[in-house]
Parts: sequence; C-alpha cells; structure tokens
Amino acid sequence: MSSYGKDQGMGPSTQRKEAGFDAVMKMALSVSKGLPHDIFWYLDCNSGSGLNETCEGSPLVFLRRALALSRWHIRAEFCDSNSEAILQLRSNVQRIQPWLDDWQLRYYICDNSDFLPRVAEKIRQTERNPEYAFGLLLSDANSQSQGYPRFALRDFATEFRRIDLLIHFNISMQAMVDGAKKSGQTGFKQWLTPRELMAELPRPYWWVRNPSAGGAGIQRFITLYGHSWDRGHKGRFADFYSTDSPAGEKILNCYTGFKDGENLLPGFGGGNT
Ligand SMILES: C[S@@+](CC[C@H](N)C(=O)[O-])C[C@H]1O[C@@H](n2cnc3c(N)ncnc32)[C@H](O)[C@@H]1O
Repeated sequence: MSSYGKDQGMGPSTQRKEAGFDAVMKMALSVSKGLPHDIFWYLDCNSGSGLNETCEGSPLVFLRRALALSRWHIRAEFCDSNSEAILQLRSNVQRIQPWLDDWQLRYYICDNSDFLPRVAEKIRQTERNPEYAFGLLLSDANSQSQGYPRFALRDFATEFRRIDLLIHFNISMQAMVDGAKKSGQTGFKQWLTPRELMAELPRPYWWVRNPSAGGAGIQRFITLYGHSWDRGHKGRFADFYSTDSPAGEKILNCYTGFKDGENLLPGFGGGNT
C-alpha cells in the first residue's frame, strides 16, 4: 500500500457517505441544467485520491454524476494537502473521464485555506458577474482540526452565495469537544457545533443528514448541505432533513447524547439508511 491511505478516512460508512454526496451533487447539477452554457463550479477541498477501499471518492462521484446528467460545462477544482493523493487522483480521473478538456480540471496540492482564495480569484477572472457564479463546494475533512478551512470558507461562501455548501462533519469528535468544554477545559475555541458552523456561513436553507452508524472505535458523521434559494424541496431526500423540520432539529440537538453502537434516531430512519 502506498503511503497515502489512512488520511482518507476509509470506514464502513464510506459508501453511505458517497451516496449522500451523490444525492446532493445530482440535485445541484440538475438545478443548473436549465442553463447549460453557464459554468458549474465544483470545488473539492479535501479531494483525496478519488478511490476508497470500497468505493469511488468524491471527485469521481461528482464527475460521474456530471457525465450522467450530460453537464459538460463544468470546472472542477480539486485540492488535497497530500501530494500523493493528488498524483493518484490525476490518474484515477484520467481513467474515467474522456469527455472533459484538461483545462476544465485543476489540481492543487496545498492547504485548502490557500486553495479557496485561489479559486475565488479564478472565478473573478472567468465570470462576467462573479457574484452569480454557481456550483457546489465540498468540505470533507476528517475533523475540524484536520483540514476544515474555517475562515477561508466563510469568506468564500460570503462572496459566492450561489455556490452551494456540502460539509461532512465529525460528530463523535464534536461530542468529545463539547464534553471537554463543559468540564471547563480550554483550547477548543476554534471548534464549532454544527449550528455555530452553519451560522457562520450565509446560506438561508440548510439540510442535515441522519448520522452514520457507530460502533467500537468508529467515528460518526453528519452531512450539512446549505444553499441560497428555495428549491421547493420538502420533506426528506437521501436521508437529509431540513434543519427546520422536527427530524432535522432532533439531529442537531441530540448528536452528543448517544453512545457508540446505539441507533441515533430510531423512528427517523436510523443511522444506516
Ligand atoms: C476524508 S478524506 C477525503 C475523502 C474524499 N473526499 C472522498 O470522498 O473520498 C480527507 C482528506 O483531507 C486531506 N486534508 C487534510 N488536511 C488538509 C488541508 N489542510 N488541506 C487540504 N486537504 C487536507 C487529507 O489528505 C485527506 O485526503
């Protein structure tokens, strides 16, 4: 095995995670399809190599979905701080996509806090009305202390409000941090609860996905999806709930209250769907 791998966070919930990403990608790409000549920007802040142990990773999931929807006019910007991940990603992308031009795909080996201002500048140079640029940004950090570009993301999300936000969020780690804060420990100032994190990012519509299943030593995640205008979606999609709904509120209120192995939200689809 190559030296890259452990940071990709592979686990039993990876397939489910990618299916959740795919559902949001499909929605975001479909909404934009009525405007086929406009660019769809896809920013992957923690791209990984494109391949997990059991399934493809977010860059390939996105490209396959764009292909399935015949969405040609995309710009995909992939970032990972691990150079080997990006090296592998390039060849994995080349293998599956014969339809995009090279200039539509860009790879960055850097911290994603540097990546976001670079893509912002590219959008300003490319778009006639940059504030109307649309697309999707994915943040798939292992935790808030491992690759979540808090301030760069806040600035980017504030400037480009039509770019949707998809954020994978480690609730196991957050539960520990919340506990440590409650007991008076210091040093966790930069850690945000899901509600605090959403409040920093100007998107009026938010969805939260039912948490992934737990188990001994397994970290649990929720996925947050924010967008700027009402799409008319009601109810649940792919296990995502509006944060205003009873199920959405319950997920956001209760994430710290369940032990590993427990089904987090019985009656709301559990953690495995
Ligand atoms: C959970 S993995 C990403 C998995 C990928 N999105 C997928 O769906 O297969 C997290 C990735 O974040 C990368 N990473 C960690 N810190 C980073 C940073 N500061 N900037 C950019 N990437 C970072 C790691 O190298 C790792 O590849």
